[in-house]
Amino acid sequence: MGRIRILPDQVANQIAAGEVVDRPASVVKELLENALDAGATRIRVEVEAGGRRLIRIADDGCGMSRDDALLAFERHATSKLRTASDLLSISTLGFRGEALPSIASVARVTLETATGEGETGTRIEIAGGKMLRVEDLALPRGTTITVADLFFNTPARRKFLRAESTELAHVTALVTHYALVHPEKHFELQSATHLVVSAPPVTRTAERIYQIFGKETLGQLLPVAAELPLERAGLPDPPPWKRDPEEPARDPGALRLSGFYSKPELQKLNRNSIYIFVNKRLIRDRLLLHAITEAYRNVIPPTSFPVVLLFLEMPPEEVDVNVHPAKTEVRFRQSTLIHDFVRDSLRTALMKARPAAAFLAAIDAQPSASPSLMPPAASPLPGAPDSERPAPLPDSDPVALESAATEAEAFRLTPRMPTPVSGKLPFNVQDSGGRDSGPGFALGTGQGFDRSAWGATAAALFQPANGPAAGDCSPNPNGAAGYASNPATEAALVEAEQAAANLNQIGSLRPLGQLRESFILAVGEDGLWIIDQHVAHERVLFEKILRDRQVEQVQRQRLLMPLLVELRPDQMVVFARIAEELERNGFEVEPFGPQTLAVKAAPVGLEGMELERMLGEVIEQSSVAGEEPARNEDLTALRTRIAASIACHSAIKINTPLDPARMEWLLLELARTSHPTSCPHGRPIALLYSWNEIQRAFHRI
Ligand SMILES: Nc1ncnc2c1ncn2[C@@H]1O[C@H](COP(=O)(O)OP(=O)(O)OP(=O)(O)O)[C@@H](O)[C@H]1O
Ligand SMILES: [Mg+2]
Repeated sequence: MGRIRILPDQVANQIAAGEVVDRPASVVKELLENALDAGATRIRVEVEAGGRRLIRIADDGCGMSRDDALLAFERHATSKLRTASDLLSISTLGFRGEALPSIASVARVTLETATGEGETGTRIEIAGGKMLRVEDLALPRGTTITVADLFFNTPARRKFLRAESTELAHVTALVTHYALVHPEKHFELQSATHLVVSAPPVTRTAERIYQIFGKETLGQLLPVAAELPLERAGLPDPPPWKRDPEEPARDPGALRLSGFYSKPELQKLNRNSIYIFVNKRLIRDRLLLHAITEAYRNVIPPTSFPVVLLFLEMPPEEVDVNVHPAKTEVRFRQSTLIHDFVRDSLRTALMKARPAAAFLAAIDAQPSASPSLMPPAASPLPGAPDSERPAPLPDSDPVALESAATEAEAFRLTPRMPTPVSGKLPFNVQDSGGRDSGPGFALGTGQGFDRSAWGATAAALFQPANGPAAGDCSPNPNGAAGYASNPATEAALVEAEQAAANLNQIGSLRPLGQLRESFILAVGEDGLWIIDQHVAHERVLFEKILRDRQVEQVQRQRLLMPLLVELRPDQMVVFARIAEELERNGFEVEPFGPQTLAVKAAPVGLEGMELERMLGEVIEQSSVAGEEPARNEDLTALRTRIAASIACHSAIKINTPLDPARMEWLLLELARTSHPTSCPHGRPIALLYSWNEIQRAFHRI
């Protein structure tokens, strides 16, 4: 008898579940995506014990007929895809028909659904993949899925679950994510004790950011938008003999980018605050992370990461979403184009905005780590260093979780995990806007929330139905129309926008003098500026060196006496590798014995001890980087590093007196740079003590 057997469905489903569902947050992700695909405009998520005991998602989407509801639990049963060619242009979040059978194979699932088209509703109970009961039930339109006792029949999986607070944090992150990408929809997340997220519909993403993260965060972010018409559609055109001459030429569509990025003063220790959505799908992508890091190169330190919410829209044919079991990774057909588009759009936005760092905000602007908003299974990139992995959250104790979060983060992009005490937390923006006047974000307990309501089904909770017309089961991305904005939110938005003072005026500031011969004090319309003379000059020189190097015009000076530099053998090897680039940057260096170099000429302004230090620094950094300048990318990195190092060692030092003319010159030169916000190593150059802050400090407003 042969040894090979076809696995029973139930086993196959459990195996698939291993890939699709690994913790409560991944169940929430699948069910949320289903609700969004069903065109829901209101989605309510309830979890108990971090989702281990219970996850319930109620939506007001199109619902399912009895037959469809039964089919939905079969493997490869989907309404979203018909032919293989549909795979090339998927516009829904789901498409494999795997999520429901996978979840049902490892939990006790109850589905209640109705289309609201005259039929009664359907209730189905399944446990461990076995259908237990199917009954008709009068239900309003929508779907409620309850997933209880996750992994009850796969104890090995259950063991891998973390503390309830950790699992809840991941679920919260997911709901938050989807709330961000759909500001026009109503999202709620309820834990056993708190209403964790409550985000009623708003019209703009900025308002949603305000709802979820508050005014302070919004004030630290700047908007970006860009569009690039595509020259060709993602897939090559069919050969001429296969083309239908009647068929009009395909419109290749466009790449669109919108979102928010942080001012350089705001820095994170990991990439967890970078959110990327492609066609409204939350993804992790190495390529786009790289593009974002590149945009911030030499604007923030190389070890820090910005906060970015990036919404990319492109024709569905441009992106292959079928490359990852949890659908959190994608493959772009024109990846270089997209990479460069993202990098350049962000970089240009940064250059244009030139945001000034506020004096008070800068004081506690320490790079901080933030917990990931992605479930860890999806989050770490292949080969990613540990810093990219989600910062572990303290387990079990929510109070510890809270205080650790407060300590670790001067700025946070995850809503704070609530502590189980009653009363309002300060993170409740409704206080400033009037509780009843419209959208707001409530976090905390004691909101008068009626727990008994949770027994009800979706549509009963979600009246009046604001969703698409009954029967319309297509995704409804534009359900926003008709939602009014809260005046308080608007006011905060305007304030945040006004607060974005920029550095354009830095050239016309009037320098008053120096503070300890190190910082220039200057005044302008916006307030009092404090400029670090060393880093300001460093930025000016850095950009000049790069420009001069580009056109091979670096100015060099001959040294009166050659400078002898001793190197270790390994440093000699590194030096040999970067010698040519150094030469193009104004150095003339010759070997002087086996371990000694004679420097005969150097870039103008670099002398004596500083010259020696600079060389040592570049050699050291290059040996760490272990680069081979043969590759284009690395050559740019090397070039930038050399320029940064020369700039740093030839710039005006602190403790150096400057006369008014020199201060004015420096400010003018700084104004001409592309990134006057920070030095090439990412430190702030100029801080603004704004007129508003000054008046407030003196209790005048
Ligand atoms: N909340 C819902 N409202 C309406 N229909 C739903 C809902 N959830 C699931 N369905 C239906 O059940 C089908 C199966 O869902 P399931 O999540 O298993 O697969 P999918 O979404 O098609 O693909 P994927 O496995 O990639 O998520 C869906 O195609 C959809 O027709
Ligand atoms: Mg699905």
